[in-house]
Amino acid sequence: MGTDPGHSALNRRAPIGEPDELTAKAVRHVPTHIAAVPSRGRAEAGPAPAALWHDLDELLEAVYSSATKLGSAIHGPEHWHSVAVAALHLLAAGEPADRPLVFVFALLHDARRLDDGADPEHGPRAAELLHRLREHGLLDMPDLRAAHLDEALRAHTRGEVSENPTIALCWDADRLDIGRVGYALDPAFFSTATGRTLAAGDEPLRWAQGPPDWHELARRFGI
Ligand SMILES: [Fe+2]
Ligand SMILES: [Fe+2]
Repeated sequence: MGTDPGHSALNRRAPIGEPDELTAKAVRHVPTHIAAVPSRGRAEAGPAPAALWHDLDELLEAVYSSATKLGSAIHGPEHWHSVAVAALHLLAAGEPADRPLVFVFALLHDARRLDDGADPEHGPRAAELLHRLREHGLLDMPDLRAAHLDEALRAHTRGEVSENPTIALCWDADRLDIGRVGYALDPAFFSTATGRTLAAGDEPLRWAQGPPDWHELARRFGI
């Protein structure tokens, strides 16, 4: 087994936030724990925030039609969905964040990848997509919130931590899904207390795939 490059990648500590150098061949780990999706209400704290979109179906259509790597087993829509589910767990644990921004981060952050390699510019390209969607009226948010989301998208590949609660939750949700390629999580790369606690566990975490769809996920975000 030691000569199998895919197997040898399992359970190493990830040096940065994403398994950029891995290919789909590395996805071999059979998850031992699949976290349930928090039900509606658990992630809701305080008054329901307004959606940042007028029509979620139009937004989804625009994002999916702009996506450059929809077929990726590592960075495609299943991963976007898992990031949203991981975010729900962080919110349900009481981590504070701008929930609609986190939802949009999950949807956009890897939508403009060109490949499953390093592709360090996919963060800035995701930020450009954000601004295009705003220009076309598919996303509507004040400039300050857009600046936070821009930073979360633009810098999510750098392996940094953040003291901004919303950016912190976005990056932690993304990194919590690194178990999909068998990497162990390193608490040093997590920004929230809940993220560090989850990362300190023994098993790579796996998040629910498939349903609920984006509409139901938005409801569970309390949006
Ligand atoms: Fe990414
Ligand atoms: Fe990601």
